[in-house]
Amino acid sequence: MTIRRSAMRQSAPSRNLQKALGLLLMFLLVPLAISCDGLPGKPDISDMPPDPRTLVDPVVLYSENCSGCHGADGTHGAARSMNDPLYLAFVGRERFAEIVDRGVPGSLMPGFGSTQLLSAAQQKAVVNGIYDRWGGSPEGVELPPYSVPALSGDALEASVKRGAEVFATHCTSCHEDASQVTNPTYLALVSDQALRSTVVCGRTDLGKPDWRGLDPSQSLSFMQITDVTNWLASHRTEFPGQSYDQSAQKRILEDD
Ligand code: HEC
Ligand code: HEC
Repeated sequence: MTIRRSAMRQSAPSRNLQKALGLLLMFLLVPLAISCDGLPGKPDISDMPPDPRTLVDPVVLYSENCSGCHGADGTHGAARSMNDPLYLAFVGRERFAEIVDRGVPGSLMPGFGSTQLLSAAQQKAVVNGIYDRWGGSPEGVELPPYSVPALSGDALEASVKRGAEVFATHCTSCHEDASQVTNPTYLALVSDQALRSTVVCGRTDLGKPDWRGLDPSQSLSFMQITDVTNWLASHRTEFPGQSYDQSAQKRILEDD
């Protein structure tokens, strides 16, 4: 009994030794732990990329999310220019924000809210940034309505017929070869609304004038805008991009 008790109880000198060893270890390890932070290759907190969902700089948001399609400075992109006060007034900030949120279904324009690519705060920042940088109020201009109800049946047929005349009168001076803008492959890439936006606001970055043309004699009435848009859209085909007989393709699909 006495032997065991003395074995459990440590002598005073050995407890002091343990304390000293503990202190020594601390002095050795603490600087080591601190210096590890500076090891080569370890990223500094300031080098870490910010969480993309917290970024709200409108210029950065535009260049990272929109410029690839709508152009670096909002012009000369594959999709329409955003650096265009007339267009920004035509679409209006509220609808613009809706398009950014939901996208244009069936086109390459993504819905940034529906796909959660951008938070609500980021969408607001990028939309306000575009209007702050490139918006303006075109004075003394009566803008055509952004959209009009779609026509069908005889009304559509009559509109398309008038549209062909509008094109012949107002557009062939530049589009001598109409197939550039009636090509079904081109039409498959754009919605009717995008066609309307193009007819109304043009692509001034590419040299296509807005609905007022190059001089007053070329200005389109609101009805002519709708008619020529319907005429363009009437060239859509069921199987775009295929040059052979489309009725044969249809028969094959129906037989399957
Ligand atoms: C002053 C010359 C000019 C006139 C007039 C003109 N256009 Fe154009 N249009 C252009 C140019 C330039 C382009 C750009 C072509 C390119 O993409 O390189 C273009 C492009 C287009 C596009 C394709 C835009 C796109 O990129 O999505 C459409 C659609 C179009 N025009 C329709 C019309 C219609 C309809 C009219 C008549 C109401 C018309 N244009 C009158 C010069 C003109
Ligand atoms: C992958 C390419 C792509 C990206 C990225 C993209 N867009 Fe688009 N956007 C398009 C295309 C293509 C259209 C035309 C869709 C159609 O046919 O109606 C379009 C249409 C739009 C329209 C409506 C144009 C109209 O005709 O009235 C707005 C507004 C718009 N984009 C804003 C934005 C903004 C803002 C961003 C970035 C936050 C963005 N887009 C990113 C391709 C893109």
